[in-house]
Amino acid sequence: MKGGCISVLFVLILIKSFDFGVLFHNFTVKFIIMVSDKIAQLINEQIAHEQYAAQYYLSMSAWFSSKDLDGIANYFRVQSKEELMHADKMFDYLNDVGGQIIIGEIAKPPHEFANAIDIFEKALEHEKKVTKSIFNIVKNANDEGDFATTSFLQWFINEQVEEEASASQYVTKIKMVSDNPSALYLFDQELSQRVFVANATA
Ligand code: FEO
Repeated sequence: MKGGCISVLFVLILIKSFDFGVLFHNFTVKFIIMVSDKIAQLINEQIAHEQYAAQYYLSMSAWFSSKDLDGIANYFRVQSKEELMHADKMFDYLNDVGGQIIIGEIAKPPHEFANAIDIFEKALEHEKKVTKSIFNIVKNANDEGDFATTSFLQWFINEQVEEEASASQYVTKIKMVSDNPSALYLFDQELSQRVFVANATA
């Protein structure tokens, strides 16, 4: 009986002194590709920019809803969802490459706008800012030889080309129709057709 107790004690001491780090070492996730802290920080900032854009477009959508222009409100609502999808893509990428995700603060977007033209112009202006910001990450990634990030961001560059082109087109269109109720009605109908498609490129 005494011998049994000693054996149990011995096993317990052995377990306690065993370095489990060695045992689990092989299960530790090793990232082959890791982004630098600087790139991770830029992507984190971009996630916040995309989330801010989502809020901004939601605010624009609310403005059009308040004017009973539900088709245009729908357009901005879908745009808002797309921005959240962009933020999600960046979130997943950062996770995949072992970057630390730090969720940033999102500023309150404006909710008062002069008129419909003002909103479309602001949307275009905002897209231009987003493009610059993405180009800046690409530039930094290029400088570091971070080919994974430059490749990942190619999708966003294509997306920005599409978004700037359509935002610019809508600025032209709203300027043509804003003083003409019948034309505005048709424009509103056109934008009511937009639907959110995950991973859409427009
Ligand atoms: Fe995600 Fe409209 O840029």
